[in-house]
Amino acid sequence: MHDSDDVTQFIPQSSLRKITDLSLPLEGLGLENALDDIDQFLKYSVKTNQPGFMNPLWGGMNISAFAGEVIATLTNNSMYTYELSPMATLIEQSLIQRKCEMVGFPDGNGTLTTGGSNGNMIGMMCARYVIDPLGQQRGFDGENLVCYVSEESHYSVLMAANVLGIGFDNVIKVKCDSDGKLRPDKLQEEIERTRINGQTPFCVVATSGTTVRGAFDPLKEIAEICADQKIWLHVDAAWGGSCLFSAKHRRLMDGVELADSVCWDSHKMMGLPLVCSAFLIKKPEILRKICSHGNVAHYLFLGDAEDVDLGRTSLQCGRRNDALKLFLAWREKGDAGWARLVENYVDLANYLQMKVERHPNLEMMSNREWSNVCIRFTAESIDHNEVNSTLRDRLVKSGNFMISQSNIGENTILRPVIANPSVSKETIDELVDEITKIGDDIVRGIPFSN
Ligand SMILES: Cc1ncc(COP(=O)(O)O)c(C=O)c1O
Repeated sequence: MHDSDDVTQFIPQSSLRKITDLSLPLEGLGLENALDDIDQFLKYSVKTNQPGFMNPLWGGMNISAFAGEVIATLTNNSMYTYELSPMATLIEQSLIQRKCEMVGFPDGNGTLTTGGSNGNMIGMMCARYVIDPLGQQRGFDGENLVCYVSEESHYSVLMAANVLGIGFDNVIKVKCDSDGKLRPDKLQEEIERTRINGQTPFCVVATSGTTVRGAFDPLKEIAEICADQKIWLHVDAAWGGSCLFSAKHRRLMDGVELADSVCWDSHKMMGLPLVCSAFLIKKPEILRKICSHGNVAHYLFLGDAEDVDLGRTSLQCGRRNDALKLFLAWREKGDAGWARLVENYVDLANYLQMKVERHPNLEMMSNREWSNVCIRFTAESIDHNEVNSTLRDRLVKSGNFMISQSNIGENTILRPVIANPSVSKETIDELVDEITKIGDDIVRGIPFSN
């Protein structure tokens, strides 16, 4: 049985297809019908605002941001020109400026993008431009350029390499230490090895807050290597960037000011509705160069608005207003409110870690500094990977909690993440109880009933 507080009402795809009318009619069904369609949609949607939602790197509902989202849709402007989006242009500029100051790019600029994946791609595109400015006109052969990432980096770097014609083989995965942080000594070795092979290093993508473990790569050491080797440093802070609000945690990104570009999602830890993500760059002219399309768009961009038309620093043409929601939420909370949010998440993750360490049937699977908590259920003579995978499946189907499953090395792990303002200590107590109860049931051979 499911109740209205459930995170999810799991239903297999084949069954959902049978009970949902997905047809697109010849004659319209009228506005009234939309209410029935919405009911059905909401009934089977995952409730990301419920405390038990600890699955991806976001959750909860920010009311002022929600209002911003609605108003942005209502006004339905596009961000390419000041003429069309006067207020939104100024707001976006001010948000970008502020984030630039926070990462230590006082003369920087940037743009709101469709997400961290896109931000990583733009960072790599800037790096590619710097090493080979003529390629924008001439094209790239995709054989010579190599970039470097930690072996625990996000898959979007591979996607970017594909889009940019770099190729998967030319993304070098650098070894991490036992906590999942990129090892600078291994980076140095890989750079030397690829140079000896006749290839040209053009970009290092460091991660501030890895997806699985929440690890922060050592930016200062990496930046020193990049400066010495004249390689662009892009920092993927899609997940961890919000540590910059907190006096207690901002040391995790020490050295970010030495980078050339950064991406930082506000739709992750800051809890903005998807999507809201910034790409930031130290030298604004490079972003402008890679977004240049000559004078082709004479119908859109008029000469006298050169500096205020955001379409000149974006890869998109029509672009949503993602700025208003962040502006309203930031003004509601202030820096101090964001700092409290971040610190509360890390405190709650510490509490979960403490409970795990005290429980005989749970174990921590990685050290941590952020709000990712990598754990597993343990008992004598069990196949840990199989039991933990079954456990996660039963947990999600029971409906109260959604957490993710991942791997660290050969081990299957469970990864609750605290990035949802509805989560409290009570939620964590309940999560631990439910995980250990399901684990016990599996060990004792009790079949799953829901
Ligand atoms: C470390 C990291 N980088 C980049 C991304 C991609 O961000 P987005 O989903 O906004 O494209 C993610 C997503 O989880 C991530 O964890």
